[in-house]
Amino acid sequence: MRILGIESSCDDTAVAIYDANNGIIGHAINSQKTHKNYGGVVPELASRDHIKNIVFLVDEAFNQAQIAKHNIDAIAYTAGPGLIGSLLTGACFAKGLAFGLEKPALAIHHLEAHILAAKLSSPNLEFPFLALLVSGGHTQLILAKSLGAYSLLGETLDDALGEAFDKTAKLMGIPYPGGAALAKLADQPIDEENFPPFPRPMLNKPGLNFSFSGLKTHAVTTWQNCAKDPISKIKIAKSFQDAIVETLVEKCRRALDKTGVHKLVVAGGVAANQELRQNLKQLMKDLGGECFFPQIEYCTDNGAMVAYAGFLHFINGSRDANLAILVKARWSLETC
Ligand code: KG4
Ligand code: ZN
Repeated sequence: MRILGIESSCDDTAVAIYDANNGIIGHAINSQKTHKNYGGVVPELASRDHIKNIVFLVDEAFNQAQIAKHNIDAIAYTAGPGLIGSLLTGACFAKGLAFGLEKPALAIHHLEAHILAAKLSSPNLEFPFLALLVSGGHTQLILAKSLGAYSLLGETLDDALGEAFDKTAKLMGIPYPGGAALAKLADQPIDEENFPPFPRPMLNKPGLNFSFSGLKTHAVTTWQNCAKDPISKIKIAKSFQDAIVETLVEKCRRALDKTGVHKLVVAGGVAANQELRQNLKQLMKDLGGECFFPQIEYCTDNGAMVAYAGFLHFINGSRDANLAILVKARWSLETC
């Protein structure tokens, strides 16, 4: 069985083909460059860029897989949450292709696909598990009970974590999207002491919600008040990242304690962060549990996670495949 996956919820146009016997057999992505000039994603430009690239990316994925288009069983596409114009581009393309090929087209929840990407890398991962979803648009702690059944335990009250990384990077002169570059800076070894102190937001309050906008402001104020030299930049990046990692580790510990599950999945773009991966792995080792991550290239937006989520729903019979084009800019994982 083979499923074509199409992702277009934000500024990545991504296509992949999942084969039940061989895993991902075709994978093509275009991360849009056009937004760099604006310091953030411009929705109208994103939609236009998806339209320009989607046909070529689909052809590239099929070329890699060395199969003809009719040799797939279904098409999975991201139906939300995301930018409405971007979602519509992928959904209309997927439905049109599905109609032409006489195959079903399945609507996939973007956040569920992020979480299930961990299972793509570790097929022995079984429900239930706790999921920490940290992306550019969302920061959530989720109890994943079974395929399609999720409870939201906590979420950010302001900026998403990737957004906080990107905004902090931008205010320190690192071009958009600077999250990964800021993390790289933080991981540089330096022979220094006296790192600027950063708060640990929301740790003194009970509950599982997060807040990151204060950390971003703290980083920027510290940056403005220092010599603005390369060493200060590294020190701020390290303190910022440490505060985030320590906060997430503690919230995960609380959520694991509350739910009684012993497996943790970390997904979304910020799950590529090495310091976060190491510390959460250590937490699960200390607790005698297990920690799962998608492989690095499937942490940020990609087509493989959509194809794989489509595969799981297809074999489970848990997705309608009619021809209606339904996309949702806002869509809770609890109702997916
Ligand atoms: O999941 P994703 O590709 O897009 C959304 O669905 O939002 O996540 C993108 C986010 C960006 O904010 C990016 O800066 C951040 O993930 N990111 C990182 C790292 N790699 C990507 N943040 C911190 N450390 C990283 N290594
Ligand atoms: Zn995403």
